[in-house]
Amino acid sequence: MRPGTDDVLLEATGIEKSFPGVRALDGAALQVRAGRLVALLGENGAGKSTLMNVLSGVFPPDAGTIRLGGGAPVRFARPAAAQASGIGIVHQELNLVPGLSVAENIWLGREPRAASGLIDYRRLHADTAAILARLDLKVAPTTLVGDLRVGQQQLVEIGKALSAHARVLILDEPTSSLSAHEVEVLFGVIADLKRDGVGLVYITHKFEELARICDDIVIMRDGRVVGTGPFGDFTREGIVRLMAGRETKELFVRSAAAPGDELLRADAITLPGDGLGRRFLVNRVSVVLRRGEVLGVFGLVGAGRTELLETLFGLHARRASGRVRVAGRDVHFTCPADAIAAGLAFAPEDRKRDGVVLPMSVGANASLASLDRTLRAGFTSSAGEAAHLRPYLDRFRVKTPSLEQLIVNLSGGNQQKVILAKWLATEPKILLLDEPTRGIDVNAKREIYTFIDELARAGLGLIVVSSELPEVLALADRVLVLCEGRATAEFSRAEATPERVLQAALPDRATALAS
Ligand SMILES: Nc1ncnc2c1ncn2[C@@H]1O[C@H](COP(=O)(O)OP(=O)(O)OP(=O)(O)O)[C@@H](O)[C@H]1O
Ligand SMILES: [Mg+2]
Repeated sequence: MRPGTDDVLLEATGIEKSFPGVRALDGAALQVRAGRLVALLGENGAGKSTLMNVLSGVFPPDAGTIRLGGGAPVRFARPAAAQASGIGIVHQELNLVPGLSVAENIWLGREPRAASGLIDYRRLHADTAAILARLDLKVAPTTLVGDLRVGQQQLVEIGKALSAHARVLILDEPTSSLSAHEVEVLFGVIADLKRDGVGLVYITHKFEELARICDDIVIMRDGRVVGTGPFGDFTREGIVRLMAGRETKELFVRSAAAPGDELLRADAITLPGDGLGRRFLVNRVSVVLRRGEVLGVFGLVGAGRTELLETLFGLHARRASGRVRVAGRDVHFTCPADAIAAGLAFAPEDRKRDGVVLPMSVGANASLASLDRTLRAGFTSSAGEAAHLRPYLDRFRVKTPSLEQLIVNLSGGNQQKVILAKWLATEPKILLLDEPTRGIDVNAKREIYTFIDELARAGLGLIVVSSELPEVLALADRVLVLCEGRATAEFSRAEATPERVLQAALPDRATALAS
């Protein structure tokens, strides 16, 4: 026996799993040890989520063994079986029921019951309140999950996993939609779990997170493990090289911009709140965008970034106000189709909700050129449309056996790439991108930055919303900062230092209360 292996909680070896046309896992292996966090790294489509699905009983492996605590091999026929064995998972995609409350979602199928057999709501809500407090999530247990923002929903998923007191906890890109504060809370919870001897598996594309929480790493490529060991033994460059299986440069440099004519001018864009929270989601924000320019929009979660893009795209026509001009002409979009006709495209943030139609094929999804749901139904995939998309899908290295593959079967990052391809293929004049690289691996990220740069040089105007400050600073010619629905600052590329941008993004209690 190797030294230090008596604390192994879970060991998987030789795991194989194929899907039609895809060998997702090809002898993958993983060890989870008590009180340690192992980060699972790899490019989009490397097999990370598939391996986690095997470990958590979503589907059985074609071959390979899983052992718990050095015992006999186990097989999980269902997720409930893995859960009963102490394995908890927070999946990459949210699995909540929007029409049920936070409490009902957390305890779904495990609700505390009174002697009568009925659900004991008093205990349900008390137990839920305890979990919400641990996650510093300030919502009532009775709140409907559908009324929460995506980051809060992600925390509810984490709460659900915590409620089961797993010995092994798997977190598949848990921070993709969390605010900086929410990430801090999660890292605190992770530290507590480690102290309690829980073993964690953590999947991320955000390298900055690793130094904070990571003990060991496992690097996967094409369904195989290509590197493993203590985190401290690896450099960032070494990790990226192993992930890609080739030398890559991560560096991206935006070319010098020469902005041209005015493409878009929006004055005093305003979107009232829905009566639940703030009075205004977007409060008299003005935007100017020229040809060849990338306007970065930065703000904390809830600043109104997404709502600003949605409003510009005609998604809130009945509630919003403000004046919009495209290429010098007044426009009034009553729906997204109007915006598309005027040369706008919008790649939204939450791919599951807005961006992709899951039961359709990659080809059909990528050729849907409108957010308008009624328009959607009218499109079907065709060889011609697919051919038009191929260059984009190739360029972003979308990993799919064919364009006929259902998009739901692609890895999370590859779904995101299909969304981008879909909007680029509409050849817009103005492109609105909301968190374009969420869930995208480091190398594909650089490819997308380069592409954005090329589009700007070709004369497009782009508005890029991102909660990653380095991304905004790398891409933007100008940075517009939003805070609580209002524009608080605008910086040129030269003026935009991280300190200044962050400062402008933070709510200033005094002015916020006065407005
Ligand atoms: N249910 C499925 N049917 C068909 N193919 C699948 C299915 N699930 C996963 N795949 C394929 O298996 C491969 C590995 O996917 P997986 O989701 O494990 O990648 P990943 O490493 O999690 O990537 P990402 O970082 O993008 O989330 C991909 O090519 C994917 O398309
Ligand atoms: Mg994944």
